[in-house]
Amino acid sequence: MTNDIECVLYDEARIDRRVRELAREINLCYGGRPIIAVFVLKGSAFFASDLIRWLDMEVTMEFMSVSSYGMASVSSGRLTVKKDIDSDVRGRDVLIIEDIIDTGVTLTTLKGLFAERGARDIKVVTMLSKPSRRLVPFEADFTGFEVPDVFVVGYGLDYADRYRNLPYIAALKRSVYENEK
Ligand code: XMP
Ligand code: MG
Repeated sequence: MTNDIECVLYDEARIDRRVRELAREINLCYGGRPIIAVFVLKGSAFFASDLIRWLDMEVTMEFMSVSSYGMASVSSGRLTVKKDIDSDVRGRDVLIIEDIIDTGVTLTTLKGLFAERGARDIKVVTMLSKPSRRLVPFEADFTGFEVPDVFVVGYGLDYADRYRNLPYIAALKRSVYENEK
């Protein structure tokens, strides 16, 4: 499996430090107000579980799995919810925890969905962002690392459902995804 890795971008120690810094920023921002933390499955599973254990407010854990239809979903607000959360978000502070923001389409649509459901406040924390790939302008409230336009795997991120369990974040060799096209 590690033969497919081009290079390690962030190792375990670096990730751990950044996760704690993000948690500090988030703690300051909410000033102790309780939140609903929405894990966007499957990619954010490790990041979200590591992050929320450093948060000092009351946290309700929720899981969601979605897929968007590209640009069409931004204008139509259409998002396929494959697995929905259990909590009612009305009047609540929602923190969406994402693995990576690429085109920005998924998060734009997902924020719209929680707004429609009556959340009081919606914020987004993402482990990674690829700003060069945006199709819609989108800024997360908290970002772990900005990455260039390379395909990244590990620490939850996958290619064809593989490599999620790598303990670090790495760039995948181009030959791996180009051969399988
Ligand atoms: P948007 O809507 O912002 O969606 O394009 C972001 C989703 O795209 C996937 N994605 C990646 N997944 N390595 C991955 O494992 C990558 O380099 C990558 N770039 C985009 C991911 O599912 C994310 O939720
Ligand atoms: Mg994802």
